[in-house]
Amino acid sequence: MFTSTAAEIDVDYALLARQAASILDNERDQNSNAAQFSAFVYQTIADLNWVGFYWVRPRGTASSHGDEQELLVGPFQGKVACARIQFGRGVCGAAALSRESVLVPDVHAFPGHIACDAASNAEIVIPVLKDGKLYGVFDIDSPSLNRFRPQDLQGLEALLAVFVAATDFE
Ligand code: SME
Repeated sequence: MFTSTAAEIDVDYALLARQAASILDNERDQNSNAAQFSAFVYQTIADLNWVGFYWVRPRGTASSHGDEQELLVGPFQGKVACARIQFGRGVCGAAALSRESVLVPDVHAFPGHIACDAASNAEIVIPVLKDGKLYGVFDIDSPSLNRFRPQDLQGLEALLAVFVAATDFE
């Protein structure tokens, strides 16, 4: 299958951060802001096929024990995704477990990558942290190999910080 490799795409993340702050102004609801923020990122940054949130929730399986947690899909743009992801599984689970951002140039080379959308070839996952607590992860997928550079990770982290500051988490 032919997969394209990203041309260098310059994004004005400082401008997007100002626009995101404006869009989220006067509203602090978690799901509303997450939905608006996902749509904004999906529509303003080129060459993406999935953008959205997974929230930390109690494990929903019958075999789970009281305090175990997993990720549950929240507001997003893109194709139908895996609903639940265990901590430590895939790129999202790795970011949740480590509480650190993960930049993956080629998802097929990432051990345990979960292929929700077969079109995805590169991915960034950033933990959603506020006051030291993990509320979820923000996941951005691209159909292009090597789509994301270190400056994209920095820009997306700054953009997500706008969302976190503008939002009250449940
Ligand atoms: N690829 C992710 C799963 C989520 S979807 O991309 C929306 C992962 O490996 O965690």
